[in-house]
Amino acid sequence: MCGIIAYIGDKPATPRLIEGLRRVEYRGYDSAGVAVLGEDGIWLRKSTGRVEELSRLVGEGTKSTVGMAHTRWATHGGVTVQNAHPHLDVTGRIAVVHNGIIENMHELKAKLQAEGTVFRSETDTEILPHLIRHYYEGDPLKAVLRALEDVRGTYGIGVLFADHPDMIIAARNGSPLVIGLGEGETVLGSDPQAIVAHTRRVIYLDDREVAVLTRQGCQVHKLDGRKVAQRQQVLDQDWGLAEKGQFQNFMLKEIYEQPESIRRCLSGRIQIDDGNAKLGGLNMSPRELVAVGGVVNLGCGTSYHAGMVGAMALEHLARVPARAEIASEFRYRHPIVSRESVYFAVSQSGETADTLGAVEEVTLKGGQCMGIVNVVGSTIARNCGQGVYVHSGPEVAVASTKAFTSQMSALMAFTLMLARTRNLSLEQGQQVARALLDIPNRVQEYLDAPGPIDEVVASVIHARYVLFLGRAFSYPVALEGALKLKEVAYVPCEGYPAGEMKHGPIAMLEKGTPVIFLAPTDAHREKAISNMKEVQARGANLIVVHNAGDAEMASIANVSIPIPVVPAYLTPFLTVLPLQLLAYRAGLALGRDIDKPRNLAKSVTVE
Ligand code: M6R
Repeated sequence: MCGIIAYIGDKPATPRLIEGLRRVEYRGYDSAGVAVLGEDGIWLRKSTGRVEELSRLVGEGTKSTVGMAHTRWATHGGVTVQNAHPHLDVTGRIAVVHNGIIENMHELKAKLQAEGTVFRSETDTEILPHLIRHYYEGDPLKAVLRALEDVRGTYGIGVLFADHPDMIIAARNGSPLVIGLGEGETVLGSDPQAIVAHTRRVIYLDDREVAVLTRQGCQVHKLDGRKVAQRQQVLDQDWGLAEKGQFQNFMLKEIYEQPESIRRCLSGRIQIDDGNAKLGGLNMSPRELVAVGGVVNLGCGTSYHAGMVGAMALEHLARVPARAEIASEFRYRHPIVSRESVYFAVSQSGETADTLGAVEEVTLKGGQCMGIVNVVGSTIARNCGQGVYVHSGPEVAVASTKAFTSQMSALMAFTLMLARTRNLSLEQGQQVARALLDIPNRVQEYLDAPGPIDEVVASVIHARYVLFLGRAFSYPVALEGALKLKEVAYVPCEGYPAGEMKHGPIAMLEKGTPVIFLAPTDAHREKAISNMKEVQARGANLIVVHNAGDAEMASIANVSIPIPVVPAYLTPFLTVLPLQLLAYRAGLALGRDIDKPRNLAKSVTVE
């Protein structure tokens, strides 16, 4: 969702701000704006639509070396230029960009209006510049600290004062901000992507902290004004600048990166000799592993689907009760949190508000929550304290692909660790370890020859309804395939457990309805074949993803998509690939904005 970039340095700010906005475009937005300090005060430009439009509007910009910019994903108020950030106070000398939601907006707005403040937008954000102005007596830091005392809600903000061109103020509560410390320049971003072009030396702001950025660096304070000691860190190498390279868009690039991203997640963690895995970030001894009474994987969207696969693998290999839960539902059903269970917060961005809420619920109830997260230093990773980084590298396309296979990789590594402490012999552990380490090769093998995806594309793009079916390990993949096709191509579809088809969705089938059946060879093969016959008896177009060499499946299918053979519990790594490619190519055929589908945001930081 909304993105922030701010720059104070020795070079012109505007081109750097526009470039920074391009790097956070992937988060999803509908309008954008930039404010820089000029000789006559604050120079402001805003537009609806893409950063490209803002860039045209800004043109050469000004020579100013201080400024900030924002991409907005509408919450309070429609998509209009007035509602786009930055917002100014009544004098036009204080500008604010804001991610998050001011919960006591109405109360504060009424108070400011009673004093004669005229609001120019429908946003909650506009409260902030007015409130800061209200408390401003010449000291920017004091004014911001005082204003934030009145505010309830979440914020990541940047504030510019026309009277103080040598500083930018930033503050955080529940909405991430990272500060980059370069040579003679300091940069503020809502995520590392906004700043890695400048520097890798960073400070992550914590909740209820305020920072004063200058060209020489930054000083962090608590909300009560106390100074906080410096705590810099250096961004990981795999957190490089995301570039499309030879690919038409990020989604395709990220699909093809999977052999490498899975390998990176597993490397150094899976040990063939011991038939075991080592996840240092979990900090769990064998004694603690043996004591684990259950595992709960919490996540949303694709991360939830990865959690489902992980839970199935845990029950299958480690014989530990395990389940996945939709994080957005978790805390609202007043869950029972067991102290014997391990809770994993599975999240690519590490910023998903619903997942964060679930983490807080587990922690509040005395449970132990650990992160399975991609973005290093993200809120979930830091709140959990312990966990596993999946090391996918930056995932830019809104539709998650490589994060899914990396999350499954991390969960499989944990499964192996847990299974070895109870259920698996050395030899069995070694078999699992070998099969797991071979996955990147099998993924590459499939991607090199993906089969007749375009035939499937032709069948789905004008379909009124598409059904994805799978049993056991293929069921979460059916859900994931449907999610991808909806997100990227906007084709009406759903994923279902194959056995449930006859309890309802079969009514949707008519001549030509595409039914995509995930049927790698496993214990459910015969039952899957019966379901396929039921599908074909209704005239549907049966597309089957099956093990290479399974001639019977190939002959039943109207369109057959073979995948390399792996053990049943690892099939999701392979069965998901044709579905990712299908969503991508269907989106392309329908002229969709592949990397930035409508209405969606990459990290969903509101509930
Ligand atoms: O960053 P997270 O993994 O926590 O995000 C969770 C979901 O919002 C995310 O997986 C979403 O469903 C994706 N757009 C799916 O492609």
